[in-house]
Amino acid sequence: MNFPPLNITGLPEPDKISAEHSQKLSAQIRQAIADSGVSIPFSEFMQLALYAPAMGYYAAGQRRFGAEGDFVTAPELGTVFGQCLARQVAEVFQEINESCDILEFGAGSGRLAVTLVNELERLAALPEHYFILETSADLQQRQRQLISEQLPQHIERFVWLDRMPEQPLTGVVLANEVLDAMPVEMFAIDDEGLAQQYMVQSSAEGFQWNYRPATGQLVRQIDSLELPAGYSSEINPALHGWIEMIAQGLKQGVVLLIDYGFPRHEYYHPQRTAGTLMCHYRHHSHSNPLALAGIQDITAHVDFTAVAEAASDAGLDVAGYTTQANFLLASGLVDLVTPAETDKVSKQQLAKNHEIQLLTSPSEMGELFKVIALGKEFTDELSGFSFRDMRGKL
Ligand SMILES: C[S@@+](CC[C@H](N)C(=O)[O-])C[C@H]1O[C@@H](n2cnc3c(N)ncnc32)[C@H](O)[C@@H]1O
Repeated sequence: MNFPPLNITGLPEPDKISAEHSQKLSAQIRQAIADSGVSIPFSEFMQLALYAPAMGYYAAGQRRFGAEGDFVTAPELGTVFGQCLARQVAEVFQEINESCDILEFGAGSGRLAVTLVNELERLAALPEHYFILETSADLQQRQRQLISEQLPQHIERFVWLDRMPEQPLTGVVLANEVLDAMPVEMFAIDDEGLAQQYMVQSSAEGFQWNYRPATGQLVRQIDSLELPAGYSSEINPALHGWIEMIAQGLKQGVVLLIDYGFPRHEYYHPQRTAGTLMCHYRHHSHSNPLALAGIQDITAHVDFTAVAEAASDAGLDVAGYTTQANFLLASGLVDLVTPAETDKVSKQQLAKNHEIQLLTSPSEMGELFKVIALGKEFTDELSGFSFRDMRGKL
């Protein structure tokens, strides 16, 4: 079987093993399409491409994060992001003033957990348990390995879960870049109305789009956005249920969600007529999710207004919303920068300053990435939002 030409300018060709892997997963998805009749909704395609057991992008054991992978996340850049986040977590623990736990969704390589626990130990604010809820069995395995190598003295605190903890949690729930990795539905609006995008098998070995009238809840959700003809975009159909599940599993504390995205009026801006869906392959970005199944990331930005609405429907208070730069600056980032009077700067300090620049610069992660805090039985101010709280924009 030949690998279908990519037709995406500038993308590196996959090596033989990756190409074969992608062909196998494509065949599996084509079978799923055949089994379901003619087509599957895009969300199902994305679910399989990212999470098909042992085959999907996040499930199949290749390197994804960091310089050797396809993209870099904030915890992979170094320790600054985790150290600042730890200060916010410690403050919440202090306010609650009883035994607290952390629950991290989608912990990736496990690096954020390592940094957080190291910094929380320094701040004398260790959690009783550090729960990790990770959908990928392969990533769970990598997290266990990293954590047992780097934090052997704390391994007993760590508990890997397939669902929310049995007992409602007191403490902090975290998810960095998890919402953007959830399957979305894609839609297009023309003069005849609203169409949902499906995947069908193409005559070659790949996939092609098919448009069918949208139905049910999806129509209600998209109609409420009041978008004009000619507009196409995407929506996360699982968001509401996910936030509700977290709200039900939280007794007292704060949920901190960090991701790239916008408030709704910016997300569904009249000029953003082609949505935000992006694919990442070896540090190249493009917008064709039909190529490279299983070996490229597929992602969409987060509608933070939808997060806030889902939270308030589920009985959570929106306790803060700001940019990543403002959050980090308000959480002690400045203490980590080299003081201006120092004339000798070490290599490590230069690397740290570069990391800080990537995390906070408006042209890097500083403005596009946002932090939203959702509270339950928690009314204290959160210092991470003290520089600039943008809840009014949601
Ligand atoms: C883009 S990666 C981010 C990884 C890590 N948080 C980081 O910042 O480096 C997305 C992660 O979320 C996980 N994931 C996606 N959907 C999830 C869900 N519904 N529950 C738990 N984990 C999920 C993926 O398996 C993956 O580990």
